[in-house]
Amino acid sequence: MALGMVVRLKRFVWLLLAHHFMVVRACHEATYGQYIQEYCLSKFQSDMETLRKTLWCDWDMTLGWYGELTNCTYQIAGRMHCFWPNQLVDEFFIAIHKHYFKNCPVSGRALRDPPNTILCPFILVPIFVTLLMTALVVWRSKRSEGIV
Ligand SMILES: *[C@@H]1O[C@H](CO)[C@@H](O)[C@H](O)[C@H]1NC(C)=O
Repeated sequence: MALGMVVRLKRFVWLLLAHHFMVVRACHEATYGQYIQEYCLSKFQSDMETLRKTLWCDWDMTLGWYGELTNCTYQIAGRMHCFWPNQLVDEFFIAIHKHYFKNCPVSGRALRDPPNTILCPFILVPIFVTLLMTALVVWRSKRSEGIV
């Protein structure tokens, strides 16, 4: 009888702790989406506005800001205990590309074609990163399905 109560009490405490742990740790996706819009996108937007539109496709000019933008989504994800990259980040970058880089030439983003040695990494790296991110997202969702 007493033992049964202890077991039940233990289970109750464990449930409370688990609940607390989940509330504290869980990524709140809606808030995360809002934060990357407010902090990361607004910074990138004001950076891009300092540049003439004709230079938007020039990697030399925008790569640094693009890196900052990427880092920003990463830093906030870390602080909010969100996975990075995640679906929101994917959609966020797709929207950025549609808005800023839609009219850039398919072969890289430069208007004047730089020599191939410069162009190649800039074509291959984003393709590789995109593939890797997609693979990671799929792998993570499979893994978490396995646990739950
Ligand atoms: C990312 O941002 C953080 C803080 O904003 C900074 O400390 C860090 O050096 C940055 N990392 C890269 C790779 O730029």
